[in-house]
Amino acid sequence: MCGIVGAVSTRNIVPVLVEGLKRLEYRGYDSCGVAVHQGGELRRTRSTSRVAELETQIAQDSVQGGTGIAHTRWATHGVPAVHNAHPHFSGKRIGLVHNGIIENHDELRAELQNKGYVFESQTDTEVIAHLVHQLYDGDLFDAVQRAILRLKGAYAIAVFCRDEPHRVVGAREGSPLVLGVGQGETFLASDAMALAGVTDQIVYLEEGDVVDLQLGKHWITARQADGSFERVQREVRTVHAHTGAAELGPYQHYMQKEIFEQPRAIADTLESVAGITPELFGDGAYQVFKDIDRVLILACGTSYYSGSTAKYWLEGIAGIPCSVEIASEYRYRDSVPDPRTLVVTISQSGETADTIAALKHARGLGMPHTLTICNVATSAMVRECKLNFLTHAGVEIGVASTKAFTTQLVALFLLTLALAQTRGKLTDAQEAAHMKALRHLPAAVQAVLALEPQVIAWAADFARKENALFLGRGLHYPIALEGALKLKEISYIHAEAYPAGELKHGPLALVTAAMPVVTIAPNDALLEKLKSNLQEVRARGGELFVFADTDTQIKSEPGVHVIRMPEHYGALSPILHVVPLQLLAYHTACARGTDVDKPRNLAKSVTVE
Ligand code: M6R
Repeated sequence: MCGIVGAVSTRNIVPVLVEGLKRLEYRGYDSCGVAVHQGGELRRTRSTSRVAELETQIAQDSVQGGTGIAHTRWATHGVPAVHNAHPHFSGKRIGLVHNGIIENHDELRAELQNKGYVFESQTDTEVIAHLVHQLYDGDLFDAVQRAILRLKGAYAIAVFCRDEPHRVVGAREGSPLVLGVGQGETFLASDAMALAGVTDQIVYLEEGDVVDLQLGKHWITARQADGSFERVQREVRTVHAHTGAAELGPYQHYMQKEIFEQPRAIADTLESVAGITPELFGDGAYQVFKDIDRVLILACGTSYYSGSTAKYWLEGIAGIPCSVEIASEYRYRDSVPDPRTLVVTISQSGETADTIAALKHARGLGMPHTLTICNVATSAMVRECKLNFLTHAGVEIGVASTKAFTTQLVALFLLTLALAQTRGKLTDAQEAAHMKALRHLPAAVQAVLALEPQVIAWAADFARKENALFLGRGLHYPIALEGALKLKEISYIHAEAYPAGELKHGPLALVTAAMPVVTIAPNDALLEKLKSNLQEVRARGGELFVFADTDTQIKSEPGVHVIRMPEHYGALSPILHVVPLQLLAYHTACARGTDVDKPRNLAKSVTVE
C-alpha cells in the first residue's frame, strides 16, 4: 500500500528517496513520484510505471536536491494516473505526500474551491496540500499543525515548502510514520525498512504527533485534546530493519521462495519454546490467562483464517469459548463486550488499519486484556497490545501470505496449549506429545513440499478454468477458505470455499464437469462424512481434486484425481494441508502468467480502511 520517504540533507538525497521507495515496492502500488527542492523551486517527477522507470525519468529530468519527499501510491480516490500520483503541489509553493484517507475531503475541497484553489487531481490528498498552503504564513510547522486540526480520517503526511529549503514536516494519525535520525540529516518514512542502510536510529511517531525535520535536528509536538500542541520527547530506538531485498535464489518468485521457507520459518518460530508456559506470550500472561473466560480473535484476510482454525483448537483442546471476527465488520457492529475476554489480534504486518481499529474498539468497550500474534516486532499492533507472540517467519514480500499463515497457526496452537494448561486441561503427557508433534512439524512440511511436481501437473489444468470450489470439514474448513483466497488472489480465478456438508444446501447447483472441486481429505473423524459429500459431487459429474491423507482409501479414478499426503498429522494437520493449496495457487498463477508477487489491485500491507 502507499509508502512515504522524506529527507532533509545537504547531499543530493534523490538516490536515498528512490532506494526507500524500492524497499517499499513489495507492498503494492500503482504510481510513484519524487519531489525535491532545487534551485529555489519545487521540482517533481511522477510515473504510473515501476520505481525503476521513475528513476530513469528522474535522471532525464535532472531532478536533484537535498530536501525532498517521495511516495508510492495505491489508488483509493481517483484512478491510477500521473495527475493523481503524489507528490501533490499547491501552487508552486507546497509539496505533499500522504498515506491514508481523508474522510471530509469533499467538504474541504468545496471550501478551498470557493477560496480560488484549483484542483488538478481527484485525490483526497490534494485537499491537504491546498489547506496547508492556505494556512501558510511563513512557518510550515505551524501551518501543518493548524491544517491537521481540520482533517477527519487517517493520515501520515510529509510536507515541504519552496520558501523553507531545509525543512520537511511530518504528521500522523491512524497511519504509521517514523523519523530517522542521521548524522547531520533527518529522514521520514512510513516504515523503518525504507531507511535501512541510511540510519538505524528510529523514532516511532505516535498518534497526533507532528514532527519538524531540519538539517541535523528535529522536534516533535503532540496534539492535545483541546487542539493545542505540546512539545514531547520520543524515544530514539536502534532498529535493525530488514532491507526487504532478499535474494530470490533458485526461485522464480518471492511467493515460491516463501512457501519453501516454511520449514525454517516454523523452526525459527519454535526456537525459543522450551515448553508450554503462558509467559511465552509476555510477562504477566499467567495472571491474564487466569482472569479470562473467553477469547475474541480479530483479524483480516489470511490472518482471519488462521484465527478461524484456532477457534477449533481453543474450544476443542482448551475448552475456552472463542469467537473470531473480521476486523472491518467488528469495529462497526454493536456487540456485547465481556471484560473477562482475551482480545487476540493476528497480523503479519502489524499495521493493518482495520485490525488496529478493531483492537482499539474492543478496548474502548472495556476489554483490557489484549494480545497480538504478529510477524513484525516494531509494528503498531505489537506496541498497542499488552501481550504478544512474535512469529519468526522473516520478511514476507509476496502479497499472498504463506509462511506468515503457517507460523501464525503455530503461535495459535501454542496459545491453545498455554490456555489449556492454565485451565488444568493439559496433562504432562499431552504436553509432551504436542511438543513432539510441533518439533517434527518442519520435517513434515518439508515432506509435503516434495509434492510440488504433482501439484504442477494439476495447475496446468486449473489454469484453463474460470471457477473452482474448495471443500473442507471441521478445522480444515478455514484451510479450504484460505486455499480459495490464495487461488483468487494471484490467479484471478473465481474460487469459493464451503464446509463439505453445506454443499447440498446450495452450492451443489454450481457443480458441472467444468467445475473443479478441490477437497481436503484428512484421515480424521469426519472422513466418512466427507466421502459421502464427494459422492454427491461425482453424481453430478463434478471433477474432484483431492488432497488425501494416507489410509483414507480415496483412490484416483476417472473424474477423481488424488494427491496423497505423506502422513496424517492430528490436530496440526491444517498446517500440512494448506501447503499444497499454496502451491496449487502459485503454479496456476504462473501458468496464467499473472504478476504473482504483486497481483493486480492488491497491497501487502493494508494501512487504509
Ligand atoms: O498484515 P495482515 O496479516 O494484518 O494482513 C491481513 C490481510 O490483508 C492479508 O492476510 C491478505 O488477506 C493477504 N493478501 C492474503 O494473502
